[in-house]
Amino acid sequence: MSEPHKLRLGVLASGSGSNLQSIIDRCADGSIDAEIVLVLSNVPGAGALDRAKKAGIATALIDHRTFTERADFDRAIVATLQASGVELVVLAGFMRLITAPFIDAFPERIINIHPALLPAFPGLHVQKKAIEAGARFAGCTVHFVDGGVDTGPIIIQAVVPILDDDDEASLSARILVQEHRIYPRAIQLIAAGRLRIEGRRVRIAAAAVVDGVMVNPPLH
Ligand code: GAR
Repeated sequence: MSEPHKLRLGVLASGSGSNLQSIIDRCADGSIDAEIVLVLSNVPGAGALDRAKKAGIATALIDHRTFTERADFDRAIVATLQASGVELVVLAGFMRLITAPFIDAFPERIINIHPALLPAFPGLHVQKKAIEAGARFAGCTVHFVDGGVDTGPIIIQAVVPILDDDDEASLSARILVQEHRIYPRAIQLIAAGRLRIEGRRVRIAAAAVVDGVMVNPPLH
C-alpha cells in the first residue's frame, strides 16, 4: 500500500532554529502528517541550517545582502521553494519582511510565529515592549501571512503570565516553550485540512472549546 500524502513543508529561519527543531521532532514522532523538504536561511552560519543538516534535511542559503531589490530576493526564495515542491511555507524566526511576489506565489500557504499576543505588539522586540507596557499577560501567535507586518488571520495562540521580576530574556524563554507547542499544532491543523479562512477569522473544524480563565494576579 502506498504511503498517505505528507504535506511538504519549507521552513525559513534566520536564527538558532529552536522552532524548526520542534517541527522536526513532531514530524519524526508522527504528531504532524508532514515532512520538511527544505530549510532555507538568509543568514550564513544560522543555527537552523545546522539543525537541518543534522536531521538529514536539504538546506539552502539565500543571503539577502547579495540582492539590491527586496522583491528579487523574494523571487529567488520562491523559485527555490517551488523547485523543492514546497506546499506550505513555515516562517520560523525568519527576520525579513516578505513582499507581494512571495505572498502571491503561495496564497494562504504561508504561516508565521510571532512572540506576542497579536494584534497587540506586532514588529520587533515585542517581549520587551509587553513588559514596558505593563501588560499582565504575554504569549505567542501562529498566523497566516498577508501583506502587512504580523497582521494575517490568527490560527492559534498561547498565553503566559508576565511576572514581576521578568526581563526580556526570562519572558522570551517562557514564551518560547509555548511556541514549540503551538507551531507544530498549527501545522497539523493545516495538514489535516481543518482550517478555513473567513475574512480575518480562521475557522477550525471540530475544535475543542477552551476551558478555564486565567487572571493575573490570581483572585485568591
Ligand atoms: C521566536 O521567538 C520567534 O517567535 C521569533 O523569533 C524567535 C526565533 O527563535 N520571531 C519573530 O520575532 C518574527 N518577527 P528560534 O530561531 O529559536 O525558532
